[in-house]
Amino acid sequence: MNANTFAATKQAWTDVEAHAARLTNARLLDLFSDPNRVRSLTYEAPHLTADFSKQRIDSAALAAFEKLAEAADFDGWRAKMFAGEVVNTSEGRAAMHWRLRDPNAPAEVKDALAEMAAFSARIRPQIDAIVHLGIGGSDLGPRLVMDALKPLKYSGLDVRFAANVDGADVADAIEGLDPKRTVLIAVSKTFTTQETLANADFVRAWGPAHLAAATAAPDKAIAWGVPSDNVFQFWDWVGGRYSLWSSVSLVCAVALKERAFERLLNGAAAMDAHFQNASFLENLPAISAAVQMWNREALSHGSYAAIPYAERLRLLPAWLQQLEMESNGKRVTRDGALLERSACAVTWGAAGTNAQHSFFQLLHQGVDEIPVEFIVNAGPQEGPPSHRAKVYANALAQARALMVGKTQENALHRTFPGNRASTMMAIDALTPEALGALLAFYEHRTFAQAVLAGVNPFDQWGVELGKEMANALLPALEGGAAPADVDASTAQWIERLK
Ligand code: F6P
Repeated sequence: MNANTFAATKQAWTDVEAHAARLTNARLLDLFSDPNRVRSLTYEAPHLTADFSKQRIDSAALAAFEKLAEAADFDGWRAKMFAGEVVNTSEGRAAMHWRLRDPNAPAEVKDALAEMAAFSARIRPQIDAIVHLGIGGSDLGPRLVMDALKPLKYSGLDVRFAANVDGADVADAIEGLDPKRTVLIAVSKTFTTQETLANADFVRAWGPAHLAAATAAPDKAIAWGVPSDNVFQFWDWVGGRYSLWSSVSLVCAVALKERAFERLLNGAAAMDAHFQNASFLENLPAISAAVQMWNREALSHGSYAAIPYAERLRLLPAWLQQLEMESNGKRVTRDGALLERSACAVTWGAAGTNAQHSFFQLLHQGVDEIPVEFIVNAGPQEGPPSHRAKVYANALAQARALMVGKTQENALHRTFPGNRASTMMAIDALTPEALGALLAFYEHRTFAQAVLAGVNPFDQWGVELGKEMANALLPALEGGAAPADVDASTAQWIERLK
């Protein structure tokens, strides 16, 4: 960061903090005295609407973030990402997940999609089940898409996932299946991940009729035993947690009808166009990133809860946790300097209404305020028609209760402090297009937040040390001697567990 950028960033944060000092004790309800508040803080993007009016923020504070975005060269970094320049600086790579859904994608991308479609058509009549094995980005995205779009699954096709190296997961995944009618899809960008290879070895030994793989290391998949025709490549310019648009989702291409996978890509492409072209203050992922930074840094809220009021989006929080925290859970800038501020909050959450009967007590009456992001499906819903209004009534009521609160004279335990912030978002329907747009929205928000914080969201060095240590401890847990330099507590547990 050069001296000018440094000074501009510092000044922008000083301005943001001045707005925070102005608003930190504001009553959310009082902010609605501005008759334009709802209109000016409601943003539209393809398939997605977001209302930030129940956040403790206003247009003036957002304008201060525009200055921060200028200082951080938001336009420049965004242009670099969409030009395919190296934005993953520590690994010397581009980040071109958007290219996987670009209508003008190069031939290698289009060919890969055509090969997936051809494989899907060929394999479908030969199978009753798919076992998808992968972990992290090679699991969470396709698992979420399959769950969210379940009504579009070919009936009679059993789709199973296993990720965990706890053998119970893979044992469950093959339980009751006929290996002669099953395809195993091994999904690993590196094809070196311990958990996935352990699970894949086990399932291969069970004797599935078909083996397939999605990987950026096709030689390794072929050496492991997948016929080369069934190896679907993706590229090192696709980060693991940004990879659901690639052959990582082969399971979705095989198991979903009505061109659902293609339509998912189309929806994401519409969000890409919005993110690429809209100016900062009209850009939904960018504004949402500003709100996230505001809550985390200006108002010091350490976490936020993502609560989909949609059963079919129940896996969204898990996918979002990896996306946000593996991307922006960093303590140094992309130039290697220590960060002065956090680049992201802790992401957590679960589907409503279930979550209301679990941790919402803390959201309403716990000591700390935790901002909430509600996500509803504004379109048609499955199941009994009378349930639809109840889902919305609950989502709106929770957001309103957090904000309005309730005072009970002489009974603090029945008092709700209120004045707690939330965002209300809606997808227009739970279609593949809207799901694609929603997931691409989160990807771009994560990127925008990284740019505002000055970090590289596309590496994940923080996962390496634990992997190395697990490999070093494994021989001892398999009956060998403990490493000499191990601490006494770990040594105790090796003795107990081996
Ligand atoms: O442990 C983290 C990680 O590297 C993630 O970034 C990635 O999504 C996951 O492991 C799986 O990696 P792979 O696809 O190479 O098996």
